[in-house]
Amino acid sequence: MWKLSYLIPLILGSVLGVVLWQQYEPIELDESVYDGKNLALEPIRPIPNNLYFNARKVQLGNILFHDPRLSHDNTISCASCHNLIKGGVDGTQTSIGINGAVGPINAPTVFNSGFNFRQFWDGRAKNLEEQAEGPIHNPIEMGSNWREVIMKLEQDTYYIEQFSLLYLDGLTSKNIQDAIATFERSLYTPNSRFDRYLRGDDAVLTEKEKLGYQRFKAYGCISCHQGMNIGGNMFQHFGVMGNYFEDRGNITQVDLGRYNVTQNPADKFVFKVPSLRNIALTAPYFHDGSAETLPDAVKVMGRYQLGRMLSDEDVELLVAFLKTLTGEYNGQPL
Ligand code: HEC
Ligand code: HEC
Repeated sequence: MWKLSYLIPLILGSVLGVVLWQQYEPIELDESVYDGKNLALEPIRPIPNNLYFNARKVQLGNILFHDPRLSHDNTISCASCHNLIKGGVDGTQTSIGINGAVGPINAPTVFNSGFNFRQFWDGRAKNLEEQAEGPIHNPIEMGSNWREVIMKLEQDTYYIEQFSLLYLDGLTSKNIQDAIATFERSLYTPNSRFDRYLRGDDAVLTEKEKLGYQRFKAYGCISCHQGMNIGGNMFQHFGVMGNYFEDRGNITQVDLGRYNVTQNPADKFVFKVPSLRNIALTAPYFHDGSAETLPDAVKVMGRYQLGRMLSDEDVELLVAFLKTLTGEYNGQPL
């Protein structure tokens, strides 16, 4: 009998729950409501206009980012492959490191990388601090190591001074990573035309650009490229609706993507969905740098991620939308 006294409120509670849930189930909205004014309903969020970081750390990180002494032969800095006046990339299909060594993979931008849930195409670094170690030790990128880097930087009174000012334990590998990561987090690019549209400035986009955004949502690009960074928050197969790699041919180690990290066969050809912010500036595209232009990249996405042969009009509209995603850095257009 005592069991029933528990059961009755439980049943009543569930019935009430279902009734309430039905009442509050989100209703389907007609497209005209999505005119940029109802931000709460949009699957993309604007980048905040102002984020605050320790200005001294940002400055120190900026100088480290541009310092070729982080490489073995003092020829290559982070900025060599992540040029901040070129959208944070090097513009080559795959990056070139010390001694002209050609790398296996395309350099993603460092702008807005602080918003990504993991770093690298295969997500092997969990944050920017961990990421910064990669290129310094990579034999075909900077080909150095912490001992060598610290020995060189200790010769410079600027570094000795700044590190002892900012960190209790002064110039260490951990603190170098911290300063670089802080600088990278400051590389956010707010106030793109699209973000202004999301904030309610309806006139800032042309009809064509708005139509492009509608198709971006309607065709399902948004299911992977979403959130504040329009990407950077999940892993997905490259080739959901067709075998991209078989069609391209010549499969390499880096094509295995996330599998290289987890060794799980289900993770073969799985990559972090890249951010589409400032995408007009970061050609060539994909981890293999195989798409030279934005229209090329969009067509490949349509075919292999959505199983859809996009028409010329579709591609034109989608590209028009993507071009509205270019933001500002330090108040200047990128
Ligand atoms: C030789 C060219 C080269 C140099 C030098 C270089 N990078 Fe990179 N960077 C790349 C490439 C290529 C990738 C992608 C590698 C991968 O995913 O396997 C990358 C990835 C990154 C990412 C990940 C971005 C994302 O969205 O996943 C960040 C952040 C980054 N680099 C910052 C730095 C910093 C900081 C330095 C200096 C300490 C640096 N890079 C030096 C070429 C370079
Ligand atoms: C199923 C998930 C998914 C869908 C749907 C999708 N993408 Fe992607 N997108 C990805 C992944 C994963 C990559 C990275 C592929 C690679 O290089 O390995 C990518 C890469 C891109 C790139 C190149 C980014 C760069 O920095 O190189 C562009 C541009 C792009 N997508 C646009 C689109 C558009 C436009 C659509 C809709 C027509 C779309 N995507 C649909 C997952 C998706």
